[in-house]
Amino acid sequence: MEFDVQKIRQDFPILSKKVNGYPLVYFDNAATSQKPQIVIDSIVDYYSNYNANIHRGVHTLSQVATDAYELSRKKIRKHFNASKDCEIIFTSGCTHGINIVASGFSSLLKKGDEIIVSAMEHHSNIVPWQMLCEKTGVLLKVIPMNEDGELIISEYENLLSNNTKLVFVNHVSNSLGTVNPIKDIIDKAHQKGAAVLIDGAQATSHLIPDFQELGVDFYVTSAHKMCGPTGVGILYGKEEWLKKLPPYQGGGEMIKEVTFKKTTYADLPHKFEAGTPNISAGISFGVAIDYLNTIGLKKIATYENELLTYATDQLMKIEGVKIYGTSKNKVAVISFNIGTIHPYDIGTIIDKLGIAVRTGHHCTQPIMDFYKIPGTVRASFAFYNTKQEIDVFIEAIKKAKMMLS
Ligand code: ALA
Repeated sequence: MEFDVQKIRQDFPILSKKVNGYPLVYFDNAATSQKPQIVIDSIVDYYSNYNANIHRGVHTLSQVATDAYELSRKKIRKHFNASKDCEIIFTSGCTHGINIVASGFSSLLKKGDEIIVSAMEHHSNIVPWQMLCEKTGVLLKVIPMNEDGELIISEYENLLSNNTKLVFVNHVSNSLGTVNPIKDIIDKAHQKGAAVLIDGAQATSHLIPDFQELGVDFYVTSAHKMCGPTGVGILYGKEEWLKKLPPYQGGGEMIKEVTFKKTTYADLPHKFEAGTPNISAGISFGVAIDYLNTIGLKKIATYENELLTYATDQLMKIEGVKIYGTSKNKVAVISFNIGTIHPYDIGTIIDKLGIAVRTGHHCTQPIMDFYKIPGTVRASFAFYNTKQEIDVFIEAIKKAKMMLS
C-alpha cells in the first residue's frame, strides 16, 4: 500500500472537525492518538452484538466475547513477538503495568538492593519505585542525561553493581522524543544479573519492539497511543518473572481455589487479571494493531520523520525558539519555548486557532528541573498529520509570539 496521507485521514472522523471555528490541527498525539473509524466501530459492535462477560459463561455470547478478547491477546503477542500468550497481561495502561511490577518487586527486594531509573522518566515510572523504596529501604539511582536529552551510558555503567536488581527506563521520552538505546541498556543490566522494565508508552506508535530479540524482562505499553481506546494496555513479562511475582490485586478470575483457610492463584495470565476487564477496549486494541499493520510501522516512521525534520526546520527559523530534545535518534515530538514566554500562554492562543498541543511539564518534572524551565510547548505528530498542518501551526506560533512579546 502506498502512503497516501489524505486517504488515511479519511479513516479518522475527528480530523475533519472544526475547533473554535478552525479546522482541527491535532498535534497532541503523545498524549493520546486519534481513533480510526474501524476501531470506533469495533467498540460499538461489541456493545451492540455480543456484550457479555468473559471467561465466565457457558452461554454463547460469553464465548464469543471471550474468543474475541483472547484473539486480541494473540494478535498483541504476535505483533511484539512474545513467546507465549500467557506473557501478555491486559492492564488499564502503562501506569497499571508498572505498578504491578513495582508492587511485586517490593516483596522480592530487601535493604541493600539497588534499582536504577533514568533522568527522563514520566512520573509513572518514578513514583511507584519511590513507593517501593520507602517500603523496602532499597536504593534508587538515576542515570543522568546530557543537554541533547540523551542518557549518558558511561554513567549508567558506573551505576550498575552486583546489588542492582532492576533497571527501568522508557523506550522513548514523552517530553523529548529521544529513542533510548534499550538493547544496550538491557544487555548491560543482564550482565549484572538485573532485570529490566521498559516503559514503551511513547514508542509503540512509532516502532515495533521485538520482545524476544530485546530479551527484555518486562515491557509496558498503552493502546490509546496506538489508535486504540483508552483504559487498556499490556504488561509483557517473561513467563519466569511473572510466575515469581505475587499477584497485584485479589479478586474474581485470578484464583484457582478459594477457601477461608487459603486461596490458590490462577495460572498466567489470569493471576494478574482480577475483576471484569475493559472487554471492548481489549478487543479493539487488537483491531488498532491490525489497522497500524495495514499501513505499516516502517512507512509510518519514515513519514513521521519527514514531518519532524520539516517542523524542526520551520520552527528554528523563528527567532528565540529553543528546542529541548535534540538527539539524532528521536521520534516526531518537538518540545520548545520561545524566549521567556510561558508555554501555557502559547498553547492557549494557538488553541483559539484550532491547534492542539500540550503545554507544561508533561509529567516529567525532573526533565524541566534539568533545563531550569517551568515547562515547554510540545507538538507531537502522527502519521495522519500533514506538512500543511505544520505550516498552519508555524503561522499560529508566529502570531502568538507577536501577541506575547
Ligand atoms: N503521558 C502522556 C503525555 O506525555 C499523557 O502527554
